[in-house]
Amino acid sequence: MTAPVRTRSSAELIRAEEPVLAHNYHPLPVVVARAEGTWVEDVEGRRYLDMLAGYSALNFGHRNPVLIEAAHRQLDRLTLTSRAFHNDQLAEFAESLAALTGLDMVLPMNTGAEAVESAVKVARKWAYEVKGVPADRATIVVADGNFHGRTTTIVSFSTDETARSGFGPFTPGFRVVPYNDPAALEAAVDETTAAVLIEPIQGEAGVIIPDEGYLTGVRELTRRAGCLFIADEIQSGLGRTGSTLAVEHEGVLPDVLLLGKALGGGIVPVSAVVARRDVLGILRPGEHGSTFGGNPLAAAVGSAVVGLLETGEFQRRAAEAGAVLRNGLAALVGKGVVGFRSRGLWAGVDIDPAIGTGREISERLMREGILVKDTHGSTIRLAPPLTITDEELRSALGALEKVLTA
Ligand SMILES: Cc1ncc(COP(=O)(O)O)c(C=O)c1O
Repeated sequence: MTAPVRTRSSAELIRAEEPVLAHNYHPLPVVVARAEGTWVEDVEGRRYLDMLAGYSALNFGHRNPVLIEAAHRQLDRLTLTSRAFHNDQLAEFAESLAALTGLDMVLPMNTGAEAVESAVKVARKWAYEVKGVPADRATIVVADGNFHGRTTTIVSFSTDETARSGFGPFTPGFRVVPYNDPAALEAAVDETTAAVLIEPIQGEAGVIIPDEGYLTGVRELTRRAGCLFIADEIQSGLGRTGSTLAVEHEGVLPDVLLLGKALGGGIVPVSAVVARRDVLGILRPGEHGSTFGGNPLAAAVGSAVVGLLETGEFQRRAAEAGAVLRNGLAALVGKGVVGFRSRGLWAGVDIDPAIGTGREISERLMREGILVKDTHGSTIRLAPPLTITDEELRSALGALEKVLTA
């Protein structure tokens, strides 16, 4: 049986959502109906260049043919077993992901927030069992301006009042220090510290890139202090910055790596905690789990994603196209752009507030056929699929110039 054909317009569909869909998002008024590569199409057939890529969940483009084929193949054989049984896709997924990252073991989960939650649990248990922190005294040091997800424990250490307000009581055990401040970090770490948890580049904060040497400092400090370095690469990882991982720009390897978003190829939610064996090895049966984590469909897609990254092609492309993006943005400084930060195909662009808020700029770009999203205030974030061509990138930059100088 085929699904009935729906004929409602974009405007009707937006209106229909209002009374029945929770208002926890404020989407741009575009109703996407299909997509291919870097392009999406709305209900009326208008085409838009996707410069957001599902917050980096679509690094390999919409409906990447290799990933779609892997998903189809798996859909036709086996989709879910639960971890009550083994499945024939999981070994390869874990082996290949461990090899790609240079770590030893994988804990498969589904969403980014679940990977963060899982890492918090693993770090605490590691602190009690290996480091010898007294029961219930473990602390985790995090950074101001962080974004690690939306669960109650994760918003407990958020510094964004909109994300926190009204959701207490909060989970204790976290210390917040300024980002990119080695001295503050060092002062916050003590014998109770299980881990330092940071984003190597803060995405939601506006693509904030720490000073050269900061990540090396975090690595050295955590090693010296005998605590774990957990890098949340859920948004920065898997090719986005021109390398497989953002930490590679300083040549450091964390003890625990959190991946998500692009790991599911834009098809299914797939996340993972990837870590050294002496860290993840502390989990025993029954102590942690997920009905869907490591399901064969997710594992098949995840393995195919790793396969794409093994070629190095996407990382190279992100670096090359990243130079086009950086040069294009540099040329707009003083023409409505007051500053920007970029690494690979990822940029936070601060627009002159006199021209408009990030939201207003995003809406004007949407009318020019370019989809972006604001982060805070007058900052917009650009993160197109890594498959974008130089020509497409230049057309997006041209539209931005038009909007800024209109
Ligand atoms: C760095 C980082 N960590 C965690 C998350 C949460 O991921 P999810 O929305 O899949 O729970 C995000 C999402 O934007 C993120 O950017």
